[in-house]
Amino acid sequence: MQIMARLCISADGYITTPDGWPPQVIDPTHGPGSHGIAEFLRTCEAALMGSTTFVPALTADRWPWPDLRVYVLGSERPAGTPDDVTFDSDPVRLLERLKADNQGGDVHLIGGPATIETYRALGVLDKFELVVLPFFVGGGMRLTDSLNPETGLEFESSRPLPGGSVEIVYRVRR
Ligand SMILES: NC(=O)c1ccc[n+]([C@@H]2O[C@H](COP(=O)([O-])OP(=O)(O)OC[C@H]3O[C@@H](n4cnc5c(N)ncnc54)[C@H](OP(=O)(O)O)[C@@H]3O)[C@@H](O)[C@H]2O)c1
Repeated sequence: MQIMARLCISADGYITTPDGWPPQVIDPTHGPGSHGIAEFLRTCEAALMGSTTFVPALTADRWPWPDLRVYVLGSERPAGTPDDVTFDSDPVRLLERLKADNQGGDVHLIGGPATIETYRALGVLDKFELVVLPFFVGGGMRLTDSLNPETGLEFESSRPLPGGSVEIVYRVRR
């Protein structure tokens, strides 16, 4: 099992739009499986995220993670959270619950940056993947508002994606 963070980032360095949405949602090519996520998810069996990233899924048109077990870090289980979502306020306990369920598949650490930093600081983040989008958004949240800027990265691979985005995969130094 590898824990792999993967985020889309605008060409001017923001991981949200000014109004707080992940920037890929305003890309005309955005849709199920876009931005290389279909290939990425082939080895994944679980999604791990913070409560801020999770809450919009409760009112979305479709459930974003139909093929993954979902684990959410947050202080209070939001009303309407499906019973099969594992929710915990303690990052170590949540990880233990995830590991106990794990069948050997990887974990998509969706974010946001606060949750990525939580698991990076625990020394369990294996990979950090960025999808650089081919447009600017002009403002929003930066990765290093929460993620430690001293995070060590080692280049592993890159590939161009349909629509002009570029995927970059790094290993995270422990
Ligand atoms: N660009 C992308 O691909 C992408 C991907 C994912 C998310 N995003 C964006 O990221 C933004 C959210 O990022 P974020 O960093 O603010 O929030 P987040 O990581 O999604 O969630 C933060 C929440 O997680 C819980 N949490 C995190 N670390 C914790 C710890 N050590 N102990 C206990 N609880 C902890 C807390 O929940 P409680 O407040 O409930 O205690 C905290 O408020 C959203 O705007 C989303 O759109 C972008």
